Amino acid sequence: MKLTWKTKAEKETRSLAARLGSLLHPGDIVTLSGDLGAGKTTFTKALAAALGVTRTVNSPTFTIIKEYEGRCPFYHMDAYRLDDSMEELGLEEYTDGEGVLVIEWPEMIEDQLPEDRLSLHLAYTGETTREIYAEAAGRRYEALLEEWKKA
Ligand SMILES: Nc1ncnc2c1ncn2[C@@H]1O[C@H](COP(=O)(O)OP(=O)(O)OP(=O)(O)O)[C@@H](O)[C@H]1O
Ligand SMILES: [Mg+2]
Repeated sequence: MKLTWKTKAEKETRSLAARLGSLLHPGDIVTLSGDLGAGKTTFTKALAAALGVTRTVNSPTFTIIKEYEGRCPFYHMDAYRLDDSMEELGLEEYTDGEGVLVIEWPEMIEDQLPEDRLSLHLAYTGETTREIYAEAAGRRYEALLEEWKKA
C-alpha cells in the first residue's frame, strides 16, 4: 500500500508526523529517506514529541543511535555515515518490541533492515513545499498506514 501527501509549510509536515507518532506502538520501525534538507529531522522531531518525548531530538551525528524516553523508548538512528559493508548493527535489539525505531538514510543499511516496515520518502518540491510518500510492507504497517490516512 502506498500514499502521498503534499505539505505547504513546515507546520503541516509536523502535524502529519505528529499524527503518525500518536499511532505508533513499541516494536514499530519507520524509515525516512530524502535529500539533505527535505525534512527528515523536522518530521522525526514532531513524531517523537507525539510519542511523549520531551527532550530535544537532534540528529545523532556522533552516535549511530540515540535513545529517548517517551510513552515507550524512542530510538533515533542516522545511517548517513554507515554502509552495508560495516559490521552487523544488531538492529533486532531495537526492534524487539520495546520501543519505536526511526531511521534516517535507510538506503545506507538496506541489507540489514527488516522487510516489514513503514518506509517514508520526503521530497523537496519548493522552498516551503514537500511531498511525502509512504509505503507499507507487512500487515502491521498496512494497518498503520490505513489508520494514518484517516487520522
Ligand atoms: N513543508 C515543509 N516540510 C518540512 N520542512 C520544511 C517545509 N518547508 C520548509 N521546511 C524547512 O526545511 C528544512 C528541513 O530540514 P531538516 O533538517 O528537517 O532536513 P533533513 O532531511 O533532516 O536534512 P539532513 O539530511 O541535512 O539532515 C527545515 O529548515 C524546515 O524549516
Ligand atoms: Mg536530518
